[in-house]
Amino acid sequence: MTIRKFRSTDSSDIAGLLGQLGYPATPGVFRRRLKNLDSQGDLILVAVEDHRAVGFVSLHLIPMVHEDGFLARVTALVVDEEFRGKGVGKGLLGAAEDYARKRGAVKAEITSAGARKGAHKFHLGMGYKEYRKRFLKRF
Ligand SMILES: CC(C)(COP(=O)(O)OP(=O)(O)OC[C@H]1O[C@@H](n2cnc3c(N)ncnc32)[C@H](O)[C@@H]1OP(=O)(O)O)[C@@H](O)C(=O)NCCC(=O)NCCS
Repeated sequence: MTIRKFRSTDSSDIAGLLGQLGYPATPGVFRRRLKNLDSQGDLILVAVEDHRAVGFVSLHLIPMVHEDGFLARVTALVVDEEFRGKGVGKGLLGAAEDYARKRGAVKAEITSAGARKGAHKFHLGMGYKEYRKRFLKRF
C-alpha cells in the first residue's frame, strides 16, 4: 500500500468511499467540491492498493486567535470496507498528522457521529481524547 497526495484520477474512487462514509456523491460532485478544497489549500491523501484508492483522509488547517500555530481539522477519513483492520487508517491519519505538524499545526481534531463506535476506538487508539459538546447550526 502506498500513501500519496490525491490526483484527479482518484475522483471516482473517492466518490465511492464517500458513499461508504454515508455521504453518497458522484465523481462530478466531488470534483466540484475540489475547487473549494483547493482554494483553501486543504490536503487530501489517498491510500493506493493495486492502482485503486482504498482510503482517503482530508485535512484543513485552521489558524487560531487564542493560540499560536494551527488547529488541524481532519474533515474526512474512510477506508474501503474490504481493507479495514489492516493498518490503512492508521497510515493515512499518521501521514496527515505529519504533514500538519510540518506546517505548524499544534493539535489535531477529528469528529465522528455518536453511532460510529468502531471509529471512536480507532481515534482513541491514535491518541485522541474525547471532548464532549459540539454545537452546529446548518445554513
Ligand atoms: C475508522 C477507520 C478509518 C479505521 O481504519 P482502519 O484501516 O480500519 O483502521 P486500522 O486498521 O489502521 O486500525 C488502527 C487501530 O485502530 C483499531 N481499530 C480500527 N477499527 C476499529 C474498530 N472498529 N474497533 C476497534 N478498534 C479498531 C485497530 O485495531 C488498530 O489498533 P492497533 O494499532 O492496536 O492494532 C475505518 O474503520 C473506516 O473507514 N470506518 C468507516 C468510516 C468512519 O467511521 N470514519 C471515521 C469517522 S470520520
